Amino acid sequence: MTGLRNLFIVGGFALVASLGMPGMASAQDAAFGKGVWLTGAKCADCHGWMGDGVQEDPRAPKGDNLRETTLTAEQLSEVILCGRPGTGMPYFDPRAYTDARCYGMTRAQIGNQAPEAGAAQLTKRHADGLAAFILSEFAGKGAPTKALCASLLGPTVARCAQLP
Ligand code: HEC
Repeated sequence: MTGLRNLFIVGGFALVASLGMPGMASAQDAAFGKGVWLTGAKCADCHGWMGDGVQEDPRAPKGDNLRETTLTAEQLSEVILCGRPGTGMPYFDPRAYTDARCYGMTRAQIGNQAPEAGAAQLTKRHADGLAAFILSEFAGKGAPTKALCASLLGPTVARCAQLP
């Protein structure tokens, strides 16, 4: 329930921000992206719920620490849709590598460097939302703490209790 309430509060903030402050429209994207992060795409398996690169699934590849990312919103969105060739970062655009949309390469051109398909099919809107969420909640925010974790996930999540 707390999770739902948090989403609601974040949504309320997004509305105020987008009405009151021009240029802050991405707060709304971030609230949408938070929902994607917390639900079906399984980003946390490899990146951890707090984006710190500590996997929730110990068998999953270790994802990058997104709290230290230096990518722009556009670059984040591209990595999410296209994955990263030659690494464990999967793609989430179901049409990635069917045409030139990803790094200008088709599956035939990219060969065995093609990343794997992710656990969900995401649209550009989902990816832009995730990018806004990563930039507003993770990037440059330092190591996750109990307080940050509780405000993101709600205080009852076991993972939060393990943090300093
Ligand atoms: C199967 C494991 C796995 C899953 C699932 C996964 N990632 Fe990744 N991700 C990785 C790995 C591994 C890298 C590092 C790639 C490299 O070596 O450059 C990475 C890199 C990234 C980067 C690049 C960061 C940077 O600064 O260069 C972003 C952004 C990212 N992932 C976001 C996501 C999001 C959002 C999701 C969910 C939609 C997701 N990932 C799901 C494994 C995963």
